[in-house]
Amino acid sequence: MKILLTGGAGFIGSHTCIELVEAGYDVVIADDLSNSKPAVLERLKELTGKEITFYNVDVANSKKVDEMFSKDRFDAVIHFAGFKAVGESVAKPLMYYRNNLDTTLTLLEIMAKYNVNNFVFSSSATVYGIPERVPLVEGMKTGCTNPYGWTKLMIEQILTDAATANKDLSVVLLRYFNPIGAHPSGRIGEDPAGIPNNLLPYITQVAIGKLPQLGIFGDDYPTHDGTGVRDYIHVVDLAKGHVKAIEYACKNKGTEIFNLGTGTGYSVLDIVKAFESANNIKIPYVVKARRDGDIAECYADPVKAKEQLGWQAEKTLEEMCRDSWRWQSNNPKGYEE
Ligand code: WQD
Repeated sequence: MKILLTGGAGFIGSHTCIELVEAGYDVVIADDLSNSKPAVLERLKELTGKEITFYNVDVANSKKVDEMFSKDRFDAVIHFAGFKAVGESVAKPLMYYRNNLDTTLTLLEIMAKYNVNNFVFSSSATVYGIPERVPLVEGMKTGCTNPYGWTKLMIEQILTDAATANKDLSVVLLRYFNPIGAHPSGRIGEDPAGIPNNLLPYITQVAIGKLPQLGIFGDDYPTHDGTGVRDYIHVVDLAKGHVKAIEYACKNKGTEIFNLGTGTGYSVLDIVKAFESANNIKIPYVVKARRDGDIAECYADPVKAKEQLGWQAEKTLEEMCRDSWRWQSNNPKGYEE
């Protein structure tokens, strides 16, 4: 079976490519490289031993996407392509709505033309907004606090409506919690452009000496130590969840939502201490004001994915910290040669 990964040269997409190949799937990547580097493709060939077919395509471009579907017969699509920086989405909402919705609508129209009916979507726990309680369960109220999150929720609705109208369409919505870590080889990993927004790449850049210290955004939250609590999941576990989601999509019809998290919340200080202990590196930090839009606590109830996908996260926090550091220390400038 052949799976198209849009945005497949990105952090989650590249790790999913490896797990799909190892599970016996043929994989094709379509990526406009707006937030990833060509070097990822060389690393994927090195790690999989296969030449991964690559289309340098903006999937909002229907002519280019049509050409791609006319050349390759895909059995399913995993849609990773999209802008994903919360802060940037607040500053540039129209860019986010245009890009994230257009790519999805174009894909759906071309998939219908070529009768491709299995769609796995890279959604996010951010669609839960400010949770009334934790752990988060798939049926809970949704509502977003930023345009990035609204694009994810709107796309969930578009896909749900498309599957209602077309009974042949199978849609799986995967709500990621906080993906961190890297492939244990240290050859692929998270490579944010500029100053990292997210916690782990910021910590690894402090550890490598690229940044002087970590700023902890608030220590006055109603959590066990006052710092924000999140559900950190190893990116390889997350990637394996996509393999299970493809299997599920190909066996079912309609729309299904799954949380992909561990079910355990860790605070910022828990992460700092775990990283220091796993790698024997001191991470200097200073407490700063809360970051606008941040919530106190967010972690998954992962039971539905375990029961219906036959998937659960297995890697430990120590592995997440160690694998993150191996990637960063082996690649001080990310994929930039
Ligand atoms: C985690 C915790 C911060 C950086 C976002 C998006 C989500 C997904 C993952 C795209 C929080 C604290 C962080 C720093 C800090 N993105 N922190 N200092 O905000 O939970 O989720 O990224 O798919 O959709 O919403 O992740 O890593 O930014 O923050 O103290 O320099 O670390 O306050 O408590 P977040 P994060």
